[in-house]
Amino acid sequence: MNDSTTTAPLGSAVNDYAQTGSRYDEFRQPMGFRHLVDSCQSTAQRLGLDLGALQLLAAGCGTGNYEERMLGHWRESGSMIGGVHLVDLFDEMLVQARSKVEPFGVLRGVHQTDLVAEDVPVDDGSIHIATLVECIHHFDRGNKLHPRTEAVLSRLRKKIVTGGSLCIVSTTPTQSRKSRYYQWAGQHAGLDVAEDPGTLYAEQYPRLELVIALLEDAGFECRPVRRIFGPYIREDVYLDPERLLADGEFAVSFFKYARDRGLFDRFAEGFSALIQSGGMAEVIAESERWRKKIGTSYMLEAVAA
Ligand SMILES: C[S@@+](CC[C@H](N)C(=O)[O-])C[C@H]1O[C@@H](n2cnc3c(N)ncnc32)[C@H](O)[C@@H]1O
Repeated sequence: MNDSTTTAPLGSAVNDYAQTGSRYDEFRQPMGFRHLVDSCQSTAQRLGLDLGALQLLAAGCGTGNYEERMLGHWRESGSMIGGVHLVDLFDEMLVQARSKVEPFGVLRGVHQTDLVAEDVPVDDGSIHIATLVECIHHFDRGNKLHPRTEAVLSRLRKKIVTGGSLCIVSTTPTQSRKSRYYQWAGQHAGLDVAEDPGTLYAEQYPRLELVIALLEDAGFECRPVRRIFGPYIREDVYLDPERLLADGEFAVSFFKYARDRGLFDRFAEGFSALIQSGGMAEVIAESERWRKKIGTSYMLEAVAA
C-alpha cells in the first residue's frame, strides 16, 4: 500500500467498506466479467499488442472478485494478461483483492488511492485498459454534482495510453424504494433496510447520459459497446451469471427467464424495446417507466482519444 492518507469521501454506512468489506463477498458476484475479458482482447487487438503485454488497472477493485474471475478465465484458456494494478480507497478491500490476484503472478501494484483526490502512482500512458466496476456512483452524491466524477475520469485518462480503454460497469438509477436488489444488498451490508429501503444507493447512481458526457469531457470516445449485464431484481438471477450470459447478450436470456416465470408482462415492454433497438443501454436510459422499476447494469467501453 502507498503512504497516502485517505478518508472515505462519503458518509454512509454502505460506502464505508472498512466496515462492510469483510462481508462484501457474500453479496457481490463478478457478474458479466466476460464482457471485460472481451474488452481486454479487443483493446489488445486495437493497440496491436499480445494479450500478454496488456497492463490493466482495476480502479475501485474492491475485494478483487472481477480480477480473480478474469485471471481464472485466461489461465484456463492458456493465455495470460501482462499485469494488473489494484486500486482502491480501502485497505480492507485491497487486502482481499491482493490475496486473490497474487497467485496468478501478474500483480504489478497495490495502491491505496483516493481516486477523487490523488493520482494512482503509475506512469502516465502506461495502462492499456482500466476498469471501474460498480464504483462511479461513489464519487458524487446524486446526479446534479459531478466534479468529483470528472476528476476521477480525467485522472484515469492520463494513465491510459491513447487508443486504450476505460470500461465502466454501473447501474442505471432506480427510483423505486422497493427495489428488491437494493433491499437485499442492504441487508447483506448490515443496513437497517426497513429504515432506508435502498434509496441510499438508488439516488447516487448517475444516469448513463451523464456518464457518457463526463467521459467525453475527460477525453474518451464512447464506443457503441454498451452491454447489459442484468437487472438487479432477484437475488437468484443476480447470483447466476452463467444463466444470464448463456445466450450471449443478457437481455435475451432474461427475456426468456421472465416469460417462463410469468414476469413477462411486467418486463415485456422494456425488453421488447431493448431487443429490437440493438442499442440497449440507450433505450434503458430513455425509458422512464423502466428506470423507475429497477436498476439495470450496463457496461460502457470508452476509448482514450
Ligand atoms: C461497490 S464496490 C465495487 C468493487 C468491485 N469493483 C466490484 O465490482 O466488486 C465500490 C468500490 O469503490 C471503492 N471506492 C469508493 N470510492 C473510492 C475512491 N474515492 N477512490 C478509490 N476507490 C473508491 C470502494 O472502496 C469499493 O471497494
